This record gives sequence, structure tokens and C-alpha cells, in this order.
Amino acid sequence: MSDSRKSIIEVRDLKMTYGRKEAVAGISFDVDRGVIHGFIGPNGAGKTTTIRILATLQVPSAGGAWIDGVNVVTEPKEVRRRLGYMPDYFGVYEGLSVTEYLEFFAQAHRLAPARRRSAISDVVELTDLGSLLEVEVHTLSKGMRQRLCLAQTLLHEPDLLILDEPANGLDPRARIEFRGLLTELRRLGKTIFLSSHILSELSPICDSVSIIEMGALVAHGPLEQIQQRIRGSDVTFEIRLVEESDVVEAVLSQLPGVSRIHQEGRSVRFDWEGEDSEIHQVWGALSAKKIAFTSVKRHEDDLEKLFMDLTTGEVQ
Ligand SMILES: Nc1ncnc2c1ncn2[C@@H]1O[C@H](COP(=O)(O)OP(=O)(O)O)[C@@H](O)[C@H]1O
Ligand SMILES: [Mg+2]
Repeated sequence: MSDSRKSIIEVRDLKMTYGRKEAVAGISFDVDRGVIHGFIGPNGAGKTTTIRILATLQVPSAGGAWIDGVNVVTEPKEVRRRLGYMPDYFGVYEGLSVTEYLEFFAQAHRLAPARRRSAISDVVELTDLGSLLEVEVHTLSKGMRQRLCLAQTLLHEPDLLILDEPANGLDPRARIEFRGLLTELRRLGKTIFLSSHILSELSPICDSVSIIEMGALVAHGPLEQIQQRIRGSDVTFEIRLVEESDVVEAVLSQLPGVSRIHQEGRSVRFDWEGEDSEIHQVWGALSAKKIAFTSVKRHEDDLEKLFMDLTTGEVQ
């Protein structure tokens, strides 16, 4: 039975030092049940260390963490029953087929034989691996391996999935499919805690985020709340022209509210300081000069910009 408390993960003053190096410098945060939570930071920030502590693979130097109210240090077995963990590497399983791989993990989770079969067929269906059951694991594409690895984390039906950089190295198509799978798992009631150093990769699916840098949390909370903190700073628009234009810069530079125009071939970026209700004047001015564009991207809501603003000290 899972606990009815709202937070499925609680981290308090968590520290991890390696010799004199402070990899995690006393962080505290909670993660709500049923959300997709992004744990974001550059390489070396302390993500894997934190995740390994949550997954009971490592004991912290100080502070603590609780999964479903269960202490990761003093009750690791209880914690492992409640979470599925996917490491940032895929082990060597030379010669194992997909079925054998899943059998191996089902046994490791000590599932009874009858339950093993149904659990394997359930996760195979969910991750759409049905046509690959006899294929040897080491010949799978990276995308299929990630699916298999995710399938493995689901075998014992945990409420919480902890995934360390799961989208790392996936091609764009596999990445989108993987995101779809995570959204489906959330719909089924799972909580997903996943790390990434590629920020834009998580923003479309995350409900909340923690941003970590050099072992310290820079921001934590619902995505909209953190985005709100950087409102007021400029929005950047990026438009894609139908064909190259040598007048677009001149047209834009005449408009109030537009600054820092940057053109590269058919792509044009500019900062916008005006109100949302006035941006139509920019599009109108471009149309009036017959400058056609195929797409507009607004860089404000994406984590890339958020992260840059937070970590360069522009927002406190
Ligand atoms: N076993 C270890 N011994 C010494 N230093 C380590 C060890 N593991 C990680 N580190 C250091 O701790 C910091 C955080 O690492 P890590 O948690 O792997 O970060 P991330 O996953 O965000 O890239 C890095 O500077 C890394 O070099
Ligand atoms: Mg890592």
C-alpha cells in the first residue's frame, strides 16, 4: 500500500562528499505524487549522486531522503520495492534475449513464477517490445534498449520511477516516443523523477523541476512558478523565413519593443520587451513588406532560457 502523503520523495539537507569534494552540498526538496519531475543541471552538478542515494545504492555523508515516508538509509529494501531505477548506463548483457533479460530482472525482484509471466507480458505490451522478444539485447538500437530498460524498472509495479538521463543519446524520433511513453506512465498513476542536462528535452512533459548546479539547488517548484520568476525579462522570438531577406533586419529595427536582432540565413531572432497584446504589430509590419515566415518560436517558456537566466544570476 502506498502512503497517502502528498510527497512521494522528500530530501532533507542531503550531502555527499568525496574526499574534499562536495558533490551534493546540502539540498532539500519534495516531489509530489503523480507528477513528472525534471532534475536538471549541467554535467557534474550532482544529479547521479543524488539519484543513487535515492535508489539506495549509496549512503549520503549527511542528511536524509525518504521515499513514500520510508528512509532510504535505514530501510533500503523497503525503498527498493517502491521504486524502479534506471541507471545512466546500460550494462553488458551479451547473449541475452529480450525475454531472458526481463526474466532475469523479474527473478531479481523475487516475483513468484506466475506473477513473473504476467508482469513480463504487461511491461512488454506497455513498452511495445512484443516483436523483439527473441532478439539479443546487445543488438537493439539505443531507443529500443531504453524501452527495455524502462520495462525492467516496471516489473515489480513500483509507484515511483527514477530515471538517470534516460533520453541521453536517443535520436529525435526515439526521444519523442520515449516522452510519449513517460506521459502514458504518468496517466497510469506513476510518479517519474528523471534527470537531464539537455534542458529543452524535458520542458514539454515536466510538471515540476529542480535545477541543480555545483551540488546546490538553484530553483525548485512547479514549472509555471519558476517561469513566472523570470517573466519581466525579455522574451526572445525566433522566426523562420520562407526565403532569405536582406530587409528584415531593417524592418524589425524600426519597431518599438524590438531589440538584439540576429539573422542567420532564414532564421531571425529578436528580443521583445513589449506586451503580448502588441506583438501583432511586428507580424503586421513583416507582412506589409511581404516578408513571409513559416514558423515562430517563443523562447521564454523553455527551460534552456530559464536555466541560463537562473544560473547566470540574472534572477534571484
Ligand atoms: N565516486 C566518486 N568519487 C569522486 N568524485 C565523484 C564520484 N562520483 C561523482 N564524483 C564527482 O561528484 C560531482 C557530481 O557528480 P555526478 O553526481 O555524477 O554529477 P551529474 O550526474 O550531475 O553529472 C562531479 O564533480 C563528479 O566528478
Ligand atoms: Mg550523471
